[in-house]
Amino acid sequence: MNKSLLFLLLSLLLVMSCKKPNQHNDLKTNDPHSYSKPEEAVVKHLFLDITADFERKIIHGCANLDIERKGNTKEIILDTKMLTIDSVYVTENKGKKYKATFRLGEGDSILGKPLHISIDENTQTVHVYYKTSPEAEALQWLTPQQTQGKKYPCLLTQSQAINARTWIPIQDGPGIRFSYSAMVRVPKELLALMSAENPVQKNKDGVYHFSMKQIVPAYLMALSVGDFAFAEISNRCGVYAEPSMLEKCKNELTETEEMIQLAEKMYGKYAWERYDILILPPSFPFGGMENPRLTFATPTIIVGDRSLVSLVAHELAHSWSGNLVTNANWNDFWLNEGFTVYFEYRIMEALKGRDYSEMLAILSQQELAITLEDLGEKSPDTHLKLDLKGRNPDDGVTDIAYIKGYFFLRLLEETVGREKWDGFLKAYFNENAFKTMTTEKFLDKLDALLTPEQKSAVNIQAWVYGPGIPANCPSPKSTLFASVDAYRQKYYEKGNWNQTETQNWNTHQWVHFLRGFPSPSPKEKIAGVDNVFHFTESQNPEIQGIWFEKALQAKYEKAYPAVETFLVNVGRRKFLMPLYKEMAKTPQGKEMALKIYQKARPNYHPISYMSVDEVLK
Ligand code: BES
Ligand code: ZN
Repeated sequence: MNKSLLFLLLSLLLVMSCKKPNQHNDLKTNDPHSYSKPEEAVVKHLFLDITADFERKIIHGCANLDIERKGNTKEIILDTKMLTIDSVYVTENKGKKYKATFRLGEGDSILGKPLHISIDENTQTVHVYYKTSPEAEALQWLTPQQTQGKKYPCLLTQSQAINARTWIPIQDGPGIRFSYSAMVRVPKELLALMSAENPVQKNKDGVYHFSMKQIVPAYLMALSVGDFAFAEISNRCGVYAEPSMLEKCKNELTETEEMIQLAEKMYGKYAWERYDILILPPSFPFGGMENPRLTFATPTIIVGDRSLVSLVAHELAHSWSGNLVTNANWNDFWLNEGFTVYFEYRIMEALKGRDYSEMLAILSQQELAITLEDLGEKSPDTHLKLDLKGRNPDDGVTDIAYIKGYFFLRLLEETVGREKWDGFLKAYFNENAFKTMTTEKFLDKLDALLTPEQKSAVNIQAWVYGPGIPANCPSPKSTLFASVDAYRQKYYEKGNWNQTETQNWNTHQWVHFLRGFPSPSPKEKIAGVDNVFHFTESQNPEIQGIWFEKALQAKYEKAYPAVETFLVNVGRRKFLMPLYKEMAKTPQGKEMALKIYQKARPNYHPISYMSVDEVLK
């Protein structure tokens, strides 16, 4: 091709790619899980003015929404679920405020109800006066008994995936971003914290003000109210926890500042100024939640030896993958989680070395194999790109998004080489910051990165739109696990476990060790290994989780009281599900499960008890 023609073509391409996308079309999110129509009228800023009423277990107040109207639509639509709407006002740009007409539409049991509010060309702000329901899926109201300190109650929210609408009337889709501010009234003895600029200590009047300048989607709205204190880790990073836990938490999480620096070195500057972690009471249903500026985390990672901090690496990584570059809707969930697991392991590799991060990858690979068996190798739910229309987006929260997603990205890294791949990812985060991403848009970018040979070697189509795990999946290797396998093999038959060889094992090695036991293992084997290592008395939830599974399978009754204590105290769904599922397999087991569940259920977050209800119904 002639040089000037090539130049012309290239410039044309450049001009085309720089053209600002049409705001209108860009806002059409095609989100099957939101009733809102942001292409017609969209929320730009939320001022949330609320009270947390611990007596009635409700939040009430007003959501003040600055909106932008496109074209000449006559209404703005918000998502709500189980909210009572008391009244709606609108403010005109001239400042006049008056009552507006509104209507709650039909809706359904998954999505809730659309709230239609009449607007016109003068509408600047809509004010929705509302209350939540005690059954709101986002909210958990803890009694003092359910906290570490046993003296004060506690409230925590979990908005992802579509629960924000159960505590705020809002356009609840990941493709819609807004800034927010808030005024939150709480009992005087408690501290309120949000995914925003936070106070470091309680004040006398129990009224807290928050501001979040950066635009975020509704699933990152978060609030927690409790007896929390703050400890600094670095000048931009610290930890909140109940006072009796604070020192322990700070010690466990001291590597966080280093993680931020390692992450920044790889993929660009941390965009959210501060990074703090809130360690919640044990009923928090997840391991962690990447609420911007303030990760929410389970206390089950506070085990004394910093062995479970990859969870922090994970939530921190979401500050880029997820919070900066956000899946356009929940069908693209793997873009949030697959990228984050990939980034998590890169942070852990930089912090602790490749042999260490490979342990994490192997454990994940084992979990993925189980998930595949559960879902069925041919199931459409094993595609990276999902179709969750008509279903709860929680159905898409499986190891497919996390781990198949991870291995796909790792394959891409191995195909193009780390240096080139890192350059690509850094540019990806930078160019798409505060924007949404679809699978198709990402694949377009990949298309420009890979050579034709690389494309056919990877087989993108099979990974993204096909079922199961393609045969070219990378396979992680760790000498730290190879030695565990050798050890298990050496002593399993005779049961003469040599304790000096295991002295330096970390949590992951113990988990790997136990996972390698047959399912079910003979009761004598389980009793024998317990006599030596005392797993039944372990206080490490990762070890307890797998140990109790093995114990239940072997009908090793000595562990049953410990199983009960564990299930009554811990509400993290990942630990609950395998144990309840295991018990539900036999009639006696199910009886035991129901007995335990009667005590345990009141301690669980709605997200957890709704899942366990399914297993035991
Ligand atoms: N964002 C997720 C949690 C989530 C996903 C909540 C979808 C609701 C719907 C969070 O980042 C996460 O993945 N947490 C994991 C821990 C992680 C180390 C894999 C968890 O909670 O287990
Ligand atoms: Zn995640």
